[in-house]
Amino acid sequence: MIDLRSDTVTVPTDAMREVIASAPVGDDVYGDDPTVNALEERVAALFGKEAGLFCPTGSLANQLMMRTLVQPGQEILAESNSHVVRAELGAAATFSGITTRTWTAKSGLLRADEALALAAPNAGPYLVSTTAIAIENTHNFGGGTVQPLDQMKELYERAHDMGLAIHLDGARIWNAHVASGVSLSDYGKYADTISVCFSKGLGAPIGSMALSTRERIDAARIWRKRYGAGMRQVGILAAAADYAITHQLADLSDDHRRAQKLATSIHAIGASLIDPSTVATNIVGLNLRTLGITAAELAVRAKGHGLLIGALGPYFARLVTHRDFDDVQCDQAIEILKKTLVA
Ligand SMILES: Cc1ncc(COP(=O)(O)O)c(C=O)c1O
Repeated sequence: MIDLRSDTVTVPTDAMREVIASAPVGDDVYGDDPTVNALEERVAALFGKEAGLFCPTGSLANQLMMRTLVQPGQEILAESNSHVVRAELGAAATFSGITTRTWTAKSGLLRADEALALAAPNAGPYLVSTTAIAIENTHNFGGGTVQPLDQMKELYERAHDMGLAIHLDGARIWNAHVASGVSLSDYGKYADTISVCFSKGLGAPIGSMALSTRERIDAARIWRKRYGAGMRQVGILAAAADYAITHQLADLSDDHRRAQKLATSIHAIGASLIDPSTVATNIVGLNLRTLGITAAELAVRAKGHGLLIGALGPYFARLVTHRDFDDVQCDQAIEILKKTLVA
């Protein structure tokens, strides 16, 4: 079975498993795990931040960071298809009393003006006050789009002038970095808090990190424990993440190349299905409306031929390339799509 449902489906390589097996560990709740400590320092430095906090999931890293920026009853602004709004199951409201307002951006692409148009800092006794804005890079449901650095900079500077903070959901910031050539530290400049994932395209089995000032990370560490996510000899997982950054980051360009090949081949099957120029990283979103088959139907058909894809909307299907999907499988997937992408 070729699995293109997500870049989270990869399994650790033998070399990564060896690193996991030999990692020095300690009790991380006591701050005693040397491998976790080293990873937190390494990733914080990569993004130009003071400190990092290893988390089991990207959702937790997002939620911990957002709650350090926004008090209960205040709001965070976000794009309407962003992960923090649609795919964290109301966690910001449930756990932190945070309300949300959204703007909608084509392909999730950030325009600072559109985000700031909603901002209402210090809104007084009648309206909810905005205290932060969340952005996502790459934008998952937007089709893996890479946020323009100039818009991130403008948003950060104008938001700060208004007293607002910026949270960056950088689950796939690694893909953005490889695709755009913008350094991780440049991305880090335009966010007060960041979450990054090791378990997506980087290929670690689990793990994310929250990044910010030492003060915010210290506060988040307490909340992580309160949520029940204080972890013990978790250096075995931090070792996998560290290995992934060192040895697997550059491979993301292969995922991007294969996504582009899928997109151009699918465009040749039906031009309305996808515009390959919108595919910037490893996510290929298909619009099936004009073809007249639903995403669920396509998923069933493709599965019958040995290809798993994501059905994210009635007519929206998603294919995500990753390190366990090679050139041979790419050709096979294209052949399967030729057979199944028919009205
Ligand atoms: C953009 C984005 N942010 C955050 C997450 C959350 O990651 P996790 O599944 O580790 O909670 C995901 C997961 O797919 C994502 O795509």
